[in-house]
Amino acid sequence: MNNEITIIRPDDWHLHLREGEMLAAVLPSSAKIYGRAIVMPNLTVPVTTAKQAEEYRRRIIDARPEGSNFEPLMTCYLTDSTSAEDIHTAYAVKAFHAVKLFPAGATTNSDNGVTDIKKVYSVLEAMQEIGMPLSVHGEVTDPEVDVFDREAVFIDRVLKPVRENFPELKIIFEHLTSKAGVDYVLEQDENMVATITPHHLLLTRNDLFKGGMNPYMYCLPVAKTFEDREAVRRAAVSGDERFFLGTDSAPHPARAKEKAGAAAGIFNAPTSIGYVTQVFDELNALDKLEGFTSIYGARFYGFSPNGSTITLAKRENPVEMDWQIKVGGDIVKIFKPDTPLLWDLVD
Ligand code: NCD
Ligand code: ZN
Repeated sequence: MNNEITIIRPDDWHLHLREGEMLAAVLPSSAKIYGRAIVMPNLTVPVTTAKQAEEYRRRIIDARPEGSNFEPLMTCYLTDSTSAEDIHTAYAVKAFHAVKLFPAGATTNSDNGVTDIKKVYSVLEAMQEIGMPLSVHGEVTDPEVDVFDREAVFIDRVLKPVRENFPELKIIFEHLTSKAGVDYVLEQDENMVATITPHHLLLTRNDLFKGGMNPYMYCLPVAKTFEDREAVRRAAVSGDERFFLGTDSAPHPARAKEKAGAAAGIFNAPTSIGYVTQVFDELNALDKLEGFTSIYGARFYGFSPNGSTITLAKRENPVEMDWQIKVGGDIVKIFKPDTPLLWDLVD
């Protein structure tokens, strides 16, 4: 039995860091584990220009704990009014590593998102030409579509036409949650990849309701059925380079979670790598862990893997911690599914 594993330092290919006090409070958890992260642009005022991205990058660098080399990789928030020229300008100064499509109204801070994919076809054309990846929140927002089917319907209504029109466009299908999503990615070529979160490896929709409605198990896309989770798990441990880790760690203060209209988003950064390792261990796939966490994503984004390593150990007793962090006068609770956490970083 394997009780310790050393892997190349992982990267997080999908992360929400927020701003101000929240940024300062959550950043150390990611910086301790990950070498780099693709930082999502859905701030209250979204990051839509090269200048804003560079300012935000500076603020993250300034908030890093002493001695940390954590590298934030910035993204641009796609809106109906983004132009091909914006993309070319940003490309020239290497301001963005991806452009993020949030369908308008799909999730937290997505009011400025795209209302109709056709409105941004000229931008997609420019991205295809220069090789800039499109990162997608893959859910339709049509109120007539069942919330658990929104990923599958997005494939038909958005991804298929985009792939037909822009076959060379690099696309990241973010936070994959469904068998339909996994099957679709498997049918595509190397231009279509997907990130997988720790929580979608662990949760099903039952967890949302277990012991009463639980907003701490609520994120978008919402966790789905056992069959869906199984497909996502199989994809993660398959060793297929198109699937890699993006935590989607998305902190919200307790006051935004514990109310009617609870915010969507799970803050998993502190427990993320432990839980991913635990799932790989349960599936007898620890030999596939390093590819998923530390190699495939880097390769897709055009980086070498990190030059350092981390070591994780399997504890005899569940890991104990405070399971919350302080942010100003509030707290942010850390992702704590029913499954006790056994795998932990060795400092
Ligand atoms: C994210 C957030 O809070 O910013 N929420 C979430 O449920 N995942 C936004 C997102 O990635 O959808
Ligand atoms: Zn996200």
